[in-house]
Amino acid sequence: MVYRNVKLITWSSTFTCGIKLIDDQHKHLVNLVNDMHCHITGNEKEEREYFNGVIEQAGKYIRVHFATEENIMIAASYSGYAEHKKAHDEFISTFEKYILDFSSGKRLSLYSFTQSLKNWVLSHIAVVDKQYFGHLRKIVARKTKDKSDVISVA
Ligand code: FEO
Repeated sequence: MVYRNVKLITWSSTFTCGIKLIDDQHKHLVNLVNDMHCHITGNEKEEREYFNGVIEQAGKYIRVHFATEENIMIAASYSGYAEHKKAHDEFISTFEKYILDFSSGKRLSLYSFTQSLKNWVLSHIAVVDKQYFGHLRKIVARKTKDKSDVISVA
């Protein structure tokens, strides 16, 4: 069971929102999942060494990404903000529980962990994030129209 050089997730244009910062962060998250997938060996000692070496940084990155999105949603007065933030908070709680369980001796299966992460990342980007992407696109379209109205009046 070795998945070296096998991508678990292939980035697709269906994941893009058009905001470079968010798209870059999502790509980075996809790369994190793919990197984890490449380190599945089925040998718990090896997997634990890898996991311990990357998980803190991964957690920090995920928090930065969530904060970035939440700030954008607040700035854009997005009505689904509270629900979206709840999904982020629930993910962080689950993520922290996994880490606590593994650090207190629960058997680590990098395969299972990576699959859970993949399922969450994909469903969140493809469904929950897309809802606010739509809201942002409407704002950008409105601002572009307002600008062109001003230009045509002048
Ligand atoms: Fe891209 Fe809502 O996380």
